[in-house]
Amino acid sequence: MSFTDLFRFYQKTDENHKKDLNAVFKPEGIAVVGASSKPGKIGYQILKNIIDCGYQGNIYPVNPNDAEVLGKKAYKTVEEIPEKVDVAVISIPAPLVIQTLEGCARKGIKAVAVITSGFAEVGNTDAEVQIKKIADKNNIALLGPNMFGYVYTPSKLNASFGPSDIRPGKIAFISQSGALAISLMGWTAMEKIGLASLVNLGNKSDIDEKDLIEYFNHDENVDAILIYMEGIKEGRKFLETEIKKPVVILKVGSSKRGAKAAASHTGSLSGSDKIYEGVFKQLGLLRASTFTQAFDWARAFSLPLPKGDETVIITNGGGIGVATTDECEAVGLSLLDDPIWLEEKFRKTMPDFGSTKNPVDITGQGGVVGYREAVKIALHEDKIKSVIVLYCETAVTDPMDIAKAMNEEYQAVHRNKPVVVAMVGGERTQAALHYLNDHHIPAFTEVSEAVSALKALYKWKEIANRKSEVVKIDPAPQEAIDMIEKIKSVGRTVLLEHEARKVLELCGVPTPKWGFARNIEEAVVKAKDMYPLAMKIASPEIIHKSDVGGVAVNIQNEEQLRTQYDKMMNKVSAAMPDANILGVNLIQMMKGIECIVGLSNDPQFGPVVMFGLGGVFVEALKDVSFRIVPFGKMEAGRLINDIKTAKILDGFRGIQADKASIVQTIYSIQKLAPLVKEIDINPLITNKDGSFAVDARIIL
Ligand code: COA
Repeated sequence: MSFTDLFRFYQKTDENHKKDLNAVFKPEGIAVVGASSKPGKIGYQILKNIIDCGYQGNIYPVNPNDAEVLGKKAYKTVEEIPEKVDVAVISIPAPLVIQTLEGCARKGIKAVAVITSGFAEVGNTDAEVQIKKIADKNNIALLGPNMFGYVYTPSKLNASFGPSDIRPGKIAFISQSGALAISLMGWTAMEKIGLASLVNLGNKSDIDEKDLIEYFNHDENVDAILIYMEGIKEGRKFLETEIKKPVVILKVGSSKRGAKAAASHTGSLSGSDKIYEGVFKQLGLLRASTFTQAFDWARAFSLPLPKGDETVIITNGGGIGVATTDECEAVGLSLLDDPIWLEEKFRKTMPDFGSTKNPVDITGQGGVVGYREAVKIALHEDKIKSVIVLYCETAVTDPMDIAKAMNEEYQAVHRNKPVVVAMVGGERTQAALHYLNDHHIPAFTEVSEAVSALKALYKWKEIANRKSEVVKIDPAPQEAIDMIEKIKSVGRTVLLEHEARKVLELCGVPTPKWGFARNIEEAVVKAKDMYPLAMKIASPEIIHKSDVGGVAVNIQNEEQLRTQYDKMMNKVSAAMPDANILGVNLIQMMKGIECIVGLSNDPQFGPVVMFGLGGVFVEALKDVSFRIVPFGKMEAGRLINDIKTAKILDGFRGIQADKASIVQTIYSIQKLAPLVKEIDINPLITNKDGSFAVDARIIL
């Protein structure tokens, strides 16, 4: 791939921006093609849901055999409908979909939701390509096919064959899986989680996650977006998604077996999970690991963003307070630590034996008055930036009274800072939890859920405050391009060590002092200011150099160099008499932390860069993280801090990493993305003086 090709590849691929998603979510008229009078049929249920859920626009059943369906006049085709239709929900067998879609185009319909199965998911890709073509040609936004429909509560529109009891709210839930979305519709209603929208993407032959995220970015009815994803169809397109609101993503298929199941389920490719992880981080999506967690987080985004770090816990139980403190420490939420101030403010809210340390423990005796007072103080004091309220049910307190008092105080200050709640108890407590959730105060039965939800809000704040970065990767210098072209022209695909190091150096990757010498006299001259050094045999035929005696380390002076050189030549020519020996590589020995920086090509996302701790444990620990090319230096900084062992880089046994030069390395190797298949810099040794590509392998 040439530079021009690659940079075209980076350019915006989005062609859906012209498509009108208002026609999907805020239609004036909706047609149901395949609407049926027969209960149990999908076309019956969709029409019934649209009518029962109170959609106020015009509803047009389409059925060639019925004059009326569910009390509404039916039409033989969409073209017969005399008024304007914005969206058609299509629920007729697959072979009939194409002609219906053409009819929709002639009628000027701007959106369709194709419920019908039997397309790419069963190998019928031709039909799917055809419907996508018709949609593109006529500028129709196409949802599905193979979907269960969608819901948009601000329009009271339930165009699905799922349950009808959807709770209105401000979360938009986008699900690749239909069955799962249907089941979660009931669950969210039970859990008092309100939804603004629920969209099942199905095969996402046209409208996908990016289109919907960007639509909801501008929809005031949506506070947060939650996505259930099995795989991405167009990796590069997804990478261009503009993130303006918190997006929680639940991506399944991280195990090898899971990835296989997801691929066969959706017909889409599930790439390596670590690469997906990198994509989500690069875009600023919050990845949850369970449905509960995803919804816990999504709920938290109805809260205002915290203005600082200091969290206060208010509790009536010591144990639950300690458990919450542990959770806060585990996720990195910092508790306000100012005992004198806390004593002064909170003492009056509790009996003498209560504790004003954070957690503020108003004791089991603390009832509605104590809670009201403590919560009021926490809300009014600017020094406190977020609040976690805990409650253990006791016979002497009424959880509902406490929940109501909390809500009153919160409304009185116009929800000025984030408050999350965890309540443990029986039925009375459940009712109080529901009351709080109904009033948009995220309330949970587990303290870990409350802490995790609050942490998600802090994470989102960090993402929302990220400075935007103009990403511009310069092309590799001409000298490097010429070198690579020359190597290619003689049919070689692997660069020799000194060639690889030279190419990297030309692109701006820092290297230790090094030299290539064709004989011992050249080696002596080049080695002068390099000791201690390592010497390695240079031969295109010898890949595993140490196996044939082709590596000598810790050479301190000229005398040792001469001795080691002779030994090496004898050993190598004995082991591989036919090898073409070009000379030796001399590399200054470096001390520091061993890292690995790599570049490879992912089938979904194209060129990706990997960073991790290197050396002998790299394979076993797999503590590496990815980003997708191209990305800037700020993102490279985040990539470095992503790995689990990132703390080591801040200083370990007196050795400290030089993060700026690691960033420089990560930035620089991106210049080679259009020219190579793979780069492995292992190790990149980093110490306080810089980072040095000690060994490198480049495959074309
Ligand atoms: N225009 C409008 N209506 C038409 C039509 C046309 N061109 N051709 C037929 N119809 C009518 C039929 O007469 C029928 O009405 P009736 O019940 O009054 O007889 C209705 O449309 C449905 O057609 P039918 O042949 O009975 O199909 P079906 O209802 O058994 O199945 C689907 C249609 C779309 C539900 C089915 O093909 C399918 O894909 N099912 C899977 C859906 C799914 O699971 N999606 C993914 C969820 S995650």
